[in-house]
This record gives sequence, C-alpha cells and structure tokens, in this order.
Amino acid sequence: MLRLIYRSVVSTDPAMRGRSAGLCLLLPLTIFSLFIGRVSGFKICSYNVQNFTLSKASDLRMLHTFTRVVSRCDICLLLHVVDPDGKAIKALLSNLSRKLFRYNRDRYLSVASKGLGNSPGDMQQYVFIYRAHSVKVTGQYQYTGQPFVRPPFVVRFSSNKTAIPEFILIPLHSDPDQAVQEIDGLYDVFVEVSTQWNNTNVMFLGDFHAGCAYVTRSDRKDIRLYSDSSFSWLIGDREDTTVNDITNCAFDRIVVHGQTFLKAIQPFSGKVFNFGREFKLPQRKVLEMSDHFPIEVTLKSPALLLQATPPLIFLCISVIVQCFL
Ligand SMILES: *[C@@H]1O[C@H](CO)[C@@H](O)[C@H](O)[C@H]1NC(C)=O
Ligand SMILES: *[C@@H]1O[C@H](CO)[C@@H](O)[C@H](O)[C@H]1NC(C)=O
Ligand SMILES: *[C@@H]1O[C@H](CO)[C@@H](O)[C@H](O)[C@H]1NC(C)=O
Ligand SMILES: *[C@@H]1O[C@H](CO)[C@@H](O)[C@H](O)[C@H]1NC(C)=O
Repeated sequence: MLRLIYRSVVSTDPAMRGRSAGLCLLLPLTIFSLFIGRVSGFKICSYNVQNFTLSKASDLRMLHTFTRVVSRCDICLLLHVVDPDGKAIKALLSNLSRKLFRYNRDRYLSVASKGLGNSPGDMQQYVFIYRAHSVKVTGQYQYTGQPFVRPPFVVRFSSNKTAIPEFILIPLHSDPDQAVQEIDGLYDVFVEVSTQWNNTNVMFLGDFHAGCAYVTRSDRKDIRLYSDSSFSWLIGDREDTTVNDITNCAFDRIVVHGQTFLKAIQPFSGKVFNFGREFKLPQRKVLEMSDHFPIEVTLKSPALLLQATPPLIFLCISVIVQCFL
C-alpha cells in the first residue's frame, strides 16, 4: 500500500525528480511523526458534557463530535452525565470502538458512579471512559463525606504507557454556591484515599467552578489545595473553559499532588481543548453539546521509541532506502 503511494509520488518524469527526492524524505518523516504523535504521551481529559442524556447521544452529528473529542484521550472524565440505564454511554462507547476498529483492535470501556445530587430532578454521574488496551481500573470508591453535593467518585488506574504506572483520579463537579468549601474538601478526600491505597499520586480534575465570582483570589487562603504547595494547578487562572464569548472563566481545572506526578507530566501540556476552532464548528454547534470546553493534560511515556512498533520503523526506513536506489 505504502509502496503504491510512494511509486505514484516518485515519478519517472525527469522534470519531477528533484521534487520527489524531497518527498522521499518527507513522506516517511510525516508518517513517522504522525505515529509518534499518537503514542507520545498519555492524555487525561475532563469534559463537562452538560446533561449528557440519551437524546444527546442519539443525535448522530453530536455523537460523532463527542467521539472525536473523547478518542483523543486515553482517559476521559465526563461530568454531568444523566444516564441511569447506561444507554447513552453505551452508544458513545460503541461509536468510539467502531471508529478505532479501522486502525487497531483497541476498545473503550467505562466506569461510572451512581446518580449523585440532592434533588431527584438533578442526579448526575461521573463517568470515566478509557482505552481498554492501555489502561486498567485497579480500584474504585465512592466518597461519602461532607461537604459535597456530588461527592467524588474516586478511581485508581494503572497503565504501562505512562511514566507513572499507578495513579488515582478524583473528579469533582462542584456546586457553584459552595465551590470554595467543596474544592477545600478535596483535601480530605485526598487524605482518606491516599491512606487507604497507600498511594499519593493523585490528580484532581473536573468543573470546580474555580473562577469568576464563585472562587475569587481572596478565597484561596481557605482552600488547602492552594495553600499547600505540594499541589500543582495545571490549568491557569487566565484560561477560559467556557464556550460562550460573554463569559471568560477558568472553571475547569486539573491539579496534581506531589513531585513524582508533576515530573511525569509533559511541561505546559495542561490546556483547554477548543474543539470548535480545531474542528471548524460554529459556536452554536459547540454550545449544543455543552457550555464548557474539555480540558486536558499529557503524561510522559516511559520510553518513546520502544513503543513505536518495529514494522513501522522498518517501513519508514525502507521507503527512504528505496528512494535512493
Ligand atoms: C436534560 O436533558 C433532557 C432531555 O434529554 C431534558 O428532558 C432535561 O430537562 C434536561 N435537564 C436539564 C437540567 O437541562
Ligand atoms: C452510533 O450510535 C448510534 C446510537 O445512538 C447508532 O445508531 C450508530 O449506528 C452508531 N454508529 C456507529 C458508527 O457505531
Ligand atoms: C502492564 O504490563 C504487565 C506486564 O507485562 C501486565 O501484567 C499488565 O497487565 C500491564 N498493565 C496494563 C494496564 O496493560
Ligand atoms: C506504602 O508504599 C511505599 C512505597 O510507595 C512502601 O515503601 C510502603 O511499604 C507501603 N506501605 C504499606 C503499608 O504498604
């Protein structure tokens, strides 16, 4: 297949020779860098999908876009999922697996909390979607302490594709009216969970409402995740995680505990994924899906080149060699 592409590129027309020599190098390099792009690093994402119900998952255009967003991530936390019978997530998973099937045998799985909240009309689930091929769930645990409206559903993951083989994710979709107390309360979740599992490699992620009027600069002294310097905030205060032009707030955040975890993260990889810009979708379409953008961070791979499959390296080299024969 590749040889065919290359043959058609390397024309026998002498006038084309000069240009094709460049292509000879460019083609394999492009393929290789695309491939490295796929394996270099392990993405963890969080997306407030604002009332993700079966009706959202049944809209094929929206489902397609959700699939494109989630398929970039090795683990993707979805917040504000309303799917008590699991049908909406099942549709997303089957679309995700279908999309991947063309490239490899990878599949996606999910782990979800029960509906959480204090009013029957607004029960929301935390859902983690992850690549079955490279990620394993090694523990899960529903926190029950105060002061949360939707207490974190804590999951421990392991993966051979990261520099940090086992880590714990603590999600939060805070109640805006008590965001300061809930973000501060994450410290207690951290203490309980890290003791129970004897593992302090913990990441907090989600829609904390940690910006604009809900959490001001002066509120920070009351939040232990800010005052204790062993926690690092990877999504900055100047980021805008909201879709609307009118609002400019860093509501969604990713925070990690400890130097071990921090060192395993690619520097400056914490960011908002503006998929409207990336996929060239009008704001109206993006807002149909949610009023938030996804956020993400990339973990380093244990050893980059070892993961590039030998056949691919061989293919690239042979294309280069053939060019000069
Ligand atoms: C969530 O979506 C469902 C339809 O899928 C709708 O009936 C419900 O009112 C929505 N809830 C909120 C809080 O927007
Ligand atoms: C995606 O899910 C919908 C169900 O909502 C299903 O009808 C459709 O066939 C799926 N598409 C793919 C490509 O799996
Ligand atoms: C990582 O590798 C070990 C040994 O090869 C294997 O037992 C384990 O299941 C792998 N873990 C994952 C998450 O793939
Ligand atoms: C906890 O983990 C550390 C290494 O991270 C290990 O040295 C220690 O023995 C563990 N403690 C228990 C009780 O398992």
